[in-house]
Amino acid sequence: MLSNSIIAVGVLLTGVASGQVTSPPKYPSPWINADFNWEDPSPVPTNGRTWAQAYDKAVQFVSQLTLLEKVNLTTGVGWEGGKCVGNTGSIPRLGFPGLCNQDSPLGVRDTDENSAFPAGVNVAATWSRNLMYARGAAMGAEHRGKGVDTQLGPVAGPIGRTPEGGRNWEGFSPDPVLTGVGMAQTVQGIQDSGVIACAKHFIGNEQEHYRQGGASQKTNGQNNKQAESSNIDDVTLHELYLWPFADAVRAGVGSIMCSYNQVNNSYACQNSYMLNYILKEELNFQGFVMSDWWAQQSGVASALAGLDMTMAGDQGLASGNTYWGSNLTAAVINGTIPQWRLDDMVVRIMTSYYKIGRDVTKVPVNFDSWSLETTGPQYAQDPNNRLTTINQHVNVQANHKKLIRQIGAASTVLLKNTKKALPLKKPKSIAVIGNDAHDNPAGPNACSDRGCSNVKNGYPIWTLAMGWGSGTANFPYLISPVTALAAQAQKDRTGFRNVSDNFDTKAIIKAASGADAAIVFVNADSGEGYITVDGNQGDRNNLTAWGNGDAVVSLVAQHNPNTIVVMHTVGPIIVEAYKNNPNVTAILWAGLPGQESGNSITDVLYGKVNPQAKSVFTWGKDRSDWGTDVVYTTAEDPLQIPYTEGTFIDYRHFDAAGIEPSYEFGFGLSYTTFTYSDLRVVKHKVRKYTPNKGKTSSAPTHGTINKNPAANEFPKNIDPIHLYVYPYLEGPVPEGQPEDVPAGSQDGSPQKVAPAGGAPGGNPGLYDVLYTVTAQIENTGKVTGTEIPQLYVSLGGPSDPVRVLRGFDDIEILPGRSATVTFQLTRRDLSNWDPSSQNWVISDYAKTVYVGSSSRTLPLSQVLP
Ligand SMILES: *[C@@H]1O[C@H](CO)[C@@H](O)[C@H](O)[C@H]1NC(C)=O
Ligand SMILES: *[C@@H]1O[C@H](CO)[C@@H](O)[C@H](O)[C@H]1NC(C)=O
Ligand SMILES: *[C@@H]1O[C@H](CO)[C@@H](O)[C@H](O)[C@H]1NC(C)=O
Ligand SMILES: *[C@@H]1O[C@H](CO)[C@@H](O)[C@H](O)[C@H]1NC(C)=O
Ligand SMILES: *[C@@H]1O[C@H](CO)[C@@H](O)[C@H](O)[C@H]1NC(C)=O
Ligand SMILES: *[C@@H]1O[C@H](CO)[C@@H](O)[C@H](O)[C@H]1NC(C)=O
Ligand SMILES: *[C@@H]1O[C@H](CO)[C@@H](O)[C@H](O)[C@H]1NC(C)=O
Repeated sequence: MLSNSIIAVGVLLTGVASGQVTSPPKYPSPWINADFNWEDPSPVPTNGRTWAQAYDKAVQFVSQLTLLEKVNLTTGVGWEGGKCVGNTGSIPRLGFPGLCNQDSPLGVRDTDENSAFPAGVNVAATWSRNLMYARGAAMGAEHRGKGVDTQLGPVAGPIGRTPEGGRNWEGFSPDPVLTGVGMAQTVQGIQDSGVIACAKHFIGNEQEHYRQGGASQKTNGQNNKQAESSNIDDVTLHELYLWPFADAVRAGVGSIMCSYNQVNNSYACQNSYMLNYILKEELNFQGFVMSDWWAQQSGVASALAGLDMTMAGDQGLASGNTYWGSNLTAAVINGTIPQWRLDDMVVRIMTSYYKIGRDVTKVPVNFDSWSLETTGPQYAQDPNNRLTTINQHVNVQANHKKLIRQIGAASTVLLKNTKKALPLKKPKSIAVIGNDAHDNPAGPNACSDRGCSNVKNGYPIWTLAMGWGSGTANFPYLISPVTALAAQAQKDRTGFRNVSDNFDTKAIIKAASGADAAIVFVNADSGEGYITVDGNQGDRNNLTAWGNGDAVVSLVAQHNPNTIVVMHTVGPIIVEAYKNNPNVTAILWAGLPGQESGNSITDVLYGKVNPQAKSVFTWGKDRSDWGTDVVYTTAEDPLQIPYTEGTFIDYRHFDAAGIEPSYEFGFGLSYTTFTYSDLRVVKHKVRKYTPNKGKTSSAPTHGTINKNPAANEFPKNIDPIHLYVYPYLEGPVPEGQPEDVPAGSQDGSPQKVAPAGGAPGGNPGLYDVLYTVTAQIENTGKVTGTEIPQLYVSLGGPSDPVRVLRGFDDIEILPGRSATVTFQLTRRDLSNWDPSSQNWVISDYAKTVYVGSSSRTLPLSQVLP
């Protein structure tokens, strides 16, 4: 069978080797649901509209556009062709400046006067919906203030299939429910601030090695022509990887970014099954699909498979040519792409624009991604252009440092606390040891995109507060632990020593010996594959602390019986030795806390903040414990990565395989204690679950376009900008070559709908609440604390995980007081994906709910009636 990836325009047809898995072709590409015969589940953004209201505005706007103007909105102008990291063409005739798409998921990238927020993995570790939302809203406000239309985040892909995965920290957690809540809250926060969110990377982008083929991959010493293929079965797709994207769609996300990799041997940005069927039909996604930068592999094929916007617009980094632009104009003129498909791309883009209220919130772009200078070339890519003001240095930080400090502390997981080591109470002396406690003498932004490859001993010798790659932002400043702890010590008249050099044994012994407490800071970094740091090509090569960190911990512990370890790591490292060392009295994971790092950790160490965080991943004792790993080398091209573990990643694997971790998923201590009691389950009467049925309307077109080539030629009065991507025809329109377009791809007649679809996020019946579960939690300690009660469900079938997370909350309780936690269990929470009916079904197996403080401490349980 041929996969739909073979339909490529302007590239050689590539076949799929026999025996390899494929994605079934699904055509035509669903047009936006013009009749809106569904209840809109997505909240209306503060400045925005419902999907239906936004659609009306978009149709009004798009109906007036010419062919060239429509194409302009779908195609980026090329690398460094505009001020943002991605820029679409504009419509000068209507004074419409085009769209500015800007990284990153943790702040505005490539500018100044912005904030550097805690990473996704940190805000997940707070388990607080309010903090997730507040972070999204603050980041959205900063993007808005800089003139950005689309913030490129949040991240649910990678979800974290392997702990070594380089970009896991940009997202939330390997658990789909926690990640789904993180996605929905962040999307709503960003969009309430008047900026379009972009849920990414769709889908299977779980490792950096081989995520791209060709030249991009060669830069990393690998010669595969093609990107790896993530081979994902239907159940695993729905129950794990797609789940958080469904939550983002239900929350009304305006855009989704397709990823570099292939899924079942079809590139994610031209996989018609994933984009047309799963995303636009089953999940009823009404926004636009944008490619990752140069993830597009074809012109006609990607358009018919459901891509709506190409970024950065050129075929390769500053290649000057494009799959769309001129080529899309030609393909519409010669009839290969029906007008309704082009119109749908543009209507989707403009519907998101109006839904989020960009027409109200937009300010002109006032920064330049390619330079922080005030004055510079108008087009960075063009050597001939004139100098102009490119940066207005607009300060968008507001009071966000307060929130950043708060999230930094609320995301710090207390893993161990013995001999009343913490909180510290005016100790006589402390020693602060480790490179990770200290400042980079060259400043926190010394390394481009925070990827430091040319530093002493090969590893970053200063405190880690974000990973590396495009998912970063410049620090306005970075409070290091040593700065904040020295200030606290001075206030308390505590003796203070510090050592930054992880290899200076003598100094470390001297500082550690005799101090009331020795606080050791270690780190482990990772990032995006285009930068290699100390031999780590994005993905981590190991799960130990970096730069002699483990040896420093054990050395300090030999000389100080009150050794406290703080870890700034992108994910788990092997901590069993720390855990078992009696002189290591406390262990904390502080993750990647952003610009207020030192203040946040000081708040926790000194008890100004009582830790509430719980680990969002499992801490195994050995790398092999996880059962999944990055594929670092291969003789295959494309590399096949079968997701044979299914949904059994992270704790689901540890539970099923009976492996005891050092610390389990959901675990975290507090300075107080909680007890759980009185589990109650109430069953609700709900409507029957009905599969979505019927047909769509037929594909609409908006306005008339002039297909006469003469009307679409390069205007004689324009002096083209160097390497810029334009919509104008270049040369004659190819015609007469029979084009092998996929069957059905040009059919605009009414189409059957997917049974599991019906509204954004999927069939509305999936979100009916079937049970309400409550429990009592008492604070049995002496201080106020916030507990994160967790609800797990056993779905009961022989191939189901032992338990899956289905609910959580964050509840502050005064000492001696009790509180009620309430969980709502939806139909989706209790269902399995059934490939044969292509729908969710509740199996006949008995289902048990468990409530407690971690994935393995679950004192309360009950079989569902
Ligand atoms: C991948 O192939 C498997 C096996 O044929 C199939 O079950 C699954 O639905 C396919 N997934 C995608 C995303 O195409
Ligand atoms: C397309 O966009 C480019 C870049 O913004 C602009 O220069 C050009 O005038 C636009 N073309 C049309 C037909 O609007
Ligand atoms: C159109 O696509 C072809 C095939 O990829 C490419 O060679 C050509 O340069 C493109 N045209 C433009 C104007 O970018
Ligand atoms: C202690 O910290 C200060 C401030 O960051 C730094 O300048 C100094 O080098 C550190 N001392 C040692 C011995 O590393
Ligand atoms: C693990 O990798 C880091 C970063 O490359 C390195 O500093 C460290 O020494 C490695 N650990 C071991 C045990 O080799
Ligand atoms: C713990 O600290 C004490 C006192 O400094 C030391 O004698 C002992 O060897 C240490 N134990 C370990 C396991 O390092
Ligand atoms: C129409 O134009 C596109 C873009 O140049 C080209 O790829 C395609 O092959 C053409 N189709 C036909 C039938 O000539």
